[in-house]
Amino acid sequence: MITPFNKPFVTGKELDYIQQAINNGHLSGNGMFTKRCQTWLEETIGCQKALLTHSCTAGLEMSAILANIQAGDEVIMPSYTFVSTANAFVLRGAVPVFIDICPDTLNIDETQIESAITKKTKAIVPVHYAGVGCEMDIIMDIAKAYQLLVIEDNAQGIGSTYKGQPLGSFGNLSALSFHETKNLISGEGGALLVNDASLIERSEIIWEKGTNRSQFFRGQVDKYTWVDVGSSYLPSELISAFLWAQLEENAMILKKRLSIWETYHQAFCKLEKIEKVRRPIIPSYCQHNAHLYYLLLNSLQERTDLIQYLKSYNIQSVFHYVPLHSSPAGIKYGRVEGKMNNTNTISDRLLRLPLWINLDKTDQIIELILKYFQN
Ligand SMILES: Cc1ncc(COP(=O)(O)O)c(C=O)c1O
Repeated sequence: MITPFNKPFVTGKELDYIQQAINNGHLSGNGMFTKRCQTWLEETIGCQKALLTHSCTAGLEMSAILANIQAGDEVIMPSYTFVSTANAFVLRGAVPVFIDICPDTLNIDETQIESAITKKTKAIVPVHYAGVGCEMDIIMDIAKAYQLLVIEDNAQGIGSTYKGQPLGSFGNLSALSFHETKNLISGEGGALLVNDASLIERSEIIWEKGTNRSQFFRGQVDKYTWVDVGSSYLPSELISAFLWAQLEENAMILKKRLSIWETYHQAFCKLEKIEKVRRPIIPSYCQHNAHLYYLLLNSLQERTDLIQYLKSYNIQSVFHYVPLHSSPAGIKYGRVEGKMNNTNTISDRLLRLPLWINLDKTDQIIELILKYFQN
């Protein structure tokens, strides 16, 4: 039997809640379960407003609209990220300005941000890779000094903190993912978090197809109408009901993932000592959420071999990301600032191991990898 790289975890309450949503007779968005999830996010992350979306991609696209990104504007981001980080801004005509990542956390290199700023720069998009916080103190200080917006791509970081503060609560805006590969899931799903009071009213309008429907439901206007640009970004109640079952079990899910992550981490310590692999580095002031476990190998060839070797034992391991700055669309739409040495070498050497709740092959995976390096 194949051990997949990811297996979506269900808590067992999802169908009950979906049934409840059906019984409530409200299946479109913004019903009881949507509101419940949003309140939970606001209270847990400490953001001013949370709006569920159908993906993190949608949350990033809403952010680009809210940030008033115009054609020719520049947005600074790492090249080592998922396409949506850049695409959301390219859709508005902006130029993604790609910079390198730090060799330790694989997060945006905050020391390279200032030299990438021009008169056209509108925003910085830190991506919290593997749920480990970027250097938010420094990034927020730069943003303040140059009057830029900060939009956190927090697709992977629910449940993580930087210096005790939840990821997603730093930037003016941030986006979360509940895609089935994430810690908390709803198949496809996400959220936009708003930490800037001046953007809240417009965020609801963009969310509701450019109408003031939310204000109408609160009795603030006597009819609702088209007032701005927008789209249909809200998920149906069926998705929110599923998600609620996951949010309720957040603590248990986090604990179990951390336990698998720690098992890998301890086991590979000896390989790191003899410089066969490099393990993830977590700064002491970052609490991570065990979103993913990776090893950095010494070469692309070694990674290809190890993937094949594990596959021969029916273990699926994967790599990501293919750098954006050298991808066809990245070359067409983006601009590179500085050297990309870390991005280029790390993206060739990073290997992700299976990490999901109820994974019972951790010991076997560890044993196989230790054996591989003995030869
Ligand atoms: C850093 C990052 N941003 C955005 C996304 C897109 O998330 P979604 O699939 O929810 O749109 C992902 C997906 O893996 C991601 O890793």
